[in-house]
Amino acid sequence: MRTTEEIRKLYLEFFKSKGHTVIPSASLIPENDPSVLFTTAGMHPLVPYLLGEPHPGGNKLTSCQKCIRTGDIDEVGDATHLTFFEMLGNWGLGNVYWKKEAIEMSVEFLTSKKWLGLDKNKIAVSVFQGDEDAPFDQEAFDIWKLMGISEKRIAKLPKKNNWWGPAGETGPCGPDTEMFYWTGKPDEIPESFNDDNSLWVEIWNDVFMEYNKQLTTNNLRQTTIEKEYEFVPLKQKNVDTGMGLERTVAVLNNCDVYFIDTFKPIIEEIEKLSGKKYGTNDGITRSIRIIADHIRAAVFISGDERGIIPSNIGQGYVLRKLVRRTVRYGKKIGIEKKFIKEIAEKVIQIFKHTYPELEKNKERIAEEMEKEEEKFAIALERGLREFEKLPSIDGKIAFDLYQSYGFPIELTEELSNERGFIINKREFEEEFKKHQELSRTASAGAFKGGLADHSEEVIKYHTTTHLLHKALREILGEHVEQKGSNLTKERLRFDFSHSTKMTPEEISAVERIVNTKINENLPVHFEMLTVEEAKRRGAIGLFEEKYKSLGEKVKVYFIGDYSTEICGGPHVEHTGQIGKFKIIKEEAVAAGTRRIKAVVT
Ligand code: ALA
Repeated sequence: MRTTEEIRKLYLEFFKSKGHTVIPSASLIPENDPSVLFTTAGMHPLVPYLLGEPHPGGNKLTSCQKCIRTGDIDEVGDATHLTFFEMLGNWGLGNVYWKKEAIEMSVEFLTSKKWLGLDKNKIAVSVFQGDEDAPFDQEAFDIWKLMGISEKRIAKLPKKNNWWGPAGETGPCGPDTEMFYWTGKPDEIPESFNDDNSLWVEIWNDVFMEYNKQLTTNNLRQTTIEKEYEFVPLKQKNVDTGMGLERTVAVLNNCDVYFIDTFKPIIEEIEKLSGKKYGTNDGITRSIRIIADHIRAAVFISGDERGIIPSNIGQGYVLRKLVRRTVRYGKKIGIEKKFIKEIAEKVIQIFKHTYPELEKNKERIAEEMEKEEEKFAIALERGLREFEKLPSIDGKIAFDLYQSYGFPIELTEELSNERGFIINKREFEEEFKKHQELSRTASAGAFKGGLADHSEEVIKYHTTTHLLHKALREILGEHVEQKGSNLTKERLRFDFSHSTKMTPEEISAVERIVNTKINENLPVHFEMLTVEEAKRRGAIGLFEEKYKSLGEKVKVYFIGDYSTEICGGPHVEHTGQIGKFKIIKEEAVAAGTRRIKAVVT
């Protein structure tokens, strides 16, 4: 049996041997990203560097990134879709290598006996077919042929299949080439590749990021009419690759993904607790898979460096939904007592060496998940009884179920489907939308992937966040540390450690300082410093832990001599570009954490 740890190590070792710097996994909660709740790919934390900022690790990087994708949550329960997964990746930033080298490295890693040792005759690939935005990828096609892949095994597919990114509305993207491995019987391998055949399993994607998808200049400031986009060449070309670790390990062992080493003990624990056997029938297998997948994802979300707890907004809402869905599927396969903590402990056990944050936060994980489980288990029984009595369902009832019994909208949808009720999704969402904050995450859109667009507005808010952070430390004290940040074109949101409500005087003092610093039109610049040097020069910032293991330089942004902060950028050039700063809300988000929402006009 080939293990996850072995393949993770092999991958990083291989790319290290090719001159790449191994960078640690970033948090699952993206920094300064307005449109997305979770890190969805290895490239996600690297967007500033794909757009041209220098990376402290250099221009060849490799990592194993923890990822969450909730867009496909309804597919979870089949043999391949996972909510939480690990993504291996390598990057060549700024033309340091391009298609030939990227594909050659992929082939060497996949087929060389020293590395994965997969059979080249079982590999098929796809390349971008070409359309009005970009031409057919003849170059990639020719390279694959040179690498010994027969033409029949090179599919030319459209944008829907062979184009990756931007993860959000705008940003770096480009044609990609995907690699598939035959998992059926060796003597049944078709001569030609057809991506409809599910025995061809996609394992790796090399993206050639050479475009920036952006709004056309004539509608840059309009949000109400249908938007137009254009694909403009990126200043620097980048290679971005992503290999799903779990799938690759499954392919190597020729097994179901739920049988690989990072799943097996979880499945066995669920079997023990429920007395049901995986594989007995489709319903049981699906329930067991959902429980295993959701608890893994929930453990990683609640154990993240940025500390998420179940709530009704943002990531907390996803966490809540995962736990609640788990409770329900647990009941379905006959688990009567509390069970989540025991399985969560298994997950921590499996991953604690690779992701030490899980071990560090294990008490919080167990406590929060158990609390959520207890709360929901009681409501679920009562709610289900109510549900059985319903003759039909509409948006209002869905909202009542949410309010009275904590049924996430997706659960109500699922129950409705099971009972053959016709549901009007739009009506559901409208009802939820009336309750603003909640609707931001409850409506499907917010669960999908996305990236910060680096629009002028977002960049202004990013620099403002540094000024705010510093001003808060001046007024409230040095205990203030950034706990989270989320920027949109319309506002900034900043979470920080502080235990009491800010007084009106404190709020105006902070506003006054930030506005003074804006009016002083301070220059903004960065320097690359070692962590020690950055500290010596008084830098604050979240990233210290992350880069320490790198032993390399960090990027430090200076705003005049007022603020010094470790940060990836980008920022405005002078604070005078920002505008007038105003705090519109100050509130608690968790014990010891406050949240400020502010605008610049
Ligand atoms: N970013 C690319 C992906 O996620 C590699 O597939």
